[in-house]
Amino acid sequence: MMTREENDRLCRIGPGTPMGALFRRYWMPIALAEKLPEPGGAPRHERLLGQDFVVFRSQQGKVGVLDELCMHRGASLVLGRVEDCGIRCLYHGWKFGTDGEILDIMNMPPGKRPPKLKANAYPVVEAGGIIWTYLGPAEKQPPFPHWQYLDVPDTHRVVMRVDSHYNWVQATEGGLDSSHVSILHTNGARPGWLGQSTDQVGAFDDTGPQLELEETEFGYHYAAFRRPARPGEPENCRIVPFVMPSGRIIPGGALQGASNATLVLEIPLDDEHTATYSVRYSSKPVDPAERHRETGFDDPEIYSFEDNKLKMSRGDYKQNRAIMATNFSGLRGIATEDAAIATSQGPIYDRSTEHLIASDMAVVRFRRRLLDSVDDMERGGDPVGVQADHRLIQAIDAPRPAGAHWRTLIPSHRVSAVDQAAE
Ligand code: FES
Ligand SMILES: [Fe+2]
Repeated sequence: MMTREENDRLCRIGPGTPMGALFRRYWMPIALAEKLPEPGGAPRHERLLGQDFVVFRSQQGKVGVLDELCMHRGASLVLGRVEDCGIRCLYHGWKFGTDGEILDIMNMPPGKRPPKLKANAYPVVEAGGIIWTYLGPAEKQPPFPHWQYLDVPDTHRVVMRVDSHYNWVQATEGGLDSSHVSILHTNGARPGWLGQSTDQVGAFDDTGPQLELEETEFGYHYAAFRRPARPGEPENCRIVPFVMPSGRIIPGGALQGASNATLVLEIPLDDEHTATYSVRYSSKPVDPAERHRETGFDDPEIYSFEDNKLKMSRGDYKQNRAIMATNFSGLRGIATEDAAIATSQGPIYDRSTEHLIASDMAVVRFRRRLLDSVDDMERGGDPVGVQADHRLIQAIDAPRPAGAHWRTLIPSHRVSAVDQAAE
């Protein structure tokens, strides 16, 4: 159990908070690249870690991320004019480059030199359908994380963003909680749950998986073991990496077929709002319509592709109780089920009232890893995983290997660029 103080230390990420300082040491997604399709197109307001930004694509095609409010007298640059290599504030015409350089000041007499100032601008990398930024101290900027999904062609991945009204910890914990999969997601994971069909019985029919966990340089790996569908067969083993500060990779497997994986990053917009970025990627082409259907977000009652917002609130979960005799959750789609649970826990869940059991091991370790890392930072250390080689991070769903440890399924386990360099 956590105290309320610990809960606040874990959940709050605004400027000046300990966890906010930790998040600011990693590269973060700030927008989907498809939302800024045209050079010189409309700028966007984006929120990240409790701060407001303008994100724009200059006429030269370069993306800029600046503080939303103009450094002169605070007009929103979202109203601004996007010009050749920058953005011009509508109020008095100050023009800023994508690097924050002041390029022009219209309300100054000719011949006067502009003051030696620079707007707050943040480093940007556009990669794999996402615009990423780094909000932390310049001298601490880590290498850009090269996730495995960046190496597949555009047609082999589907990137989604879902903005919701709950704290990022709820979302992250849900993703690391293996035992809920066979229960909340009964419809998808155990389609034979009513007993009509025995040939659909699979590993997910075991609702009480055994968990093991090992820390890694990027966070940890947990392995969930489920009883085999038929006697004599090996147990099923699902290894999921938790990647600091709020990422995970879900292996394809019983649910989706073995050739894919899904990267999920729970990005705090502020203390009470989260943007879930998910990337389904595969060695084969991925059909966007199929992916949208699987999540349940193809239903316009539940989700809007226009503004990426989840249309759900406490008291309006879009649950259909009339179908629950044959539909376990009464909700449509796996991601919708997860979103309903996180919404139901409230804007910031108070963990001082919960009752944990052994199956919550991965959730408990996630909290510990984050809070320990914040403590380390306060003593002058670096947060866990900022230097990790993300190319090596993978997930797996496979039969438990006979006579070998589960970690042999992931050859990169505990082997990191940092470790290798130290050897
Ligand atoms: S407030 Fe932006 S130029 Fe004056
Ligand atoms: Fe889930």
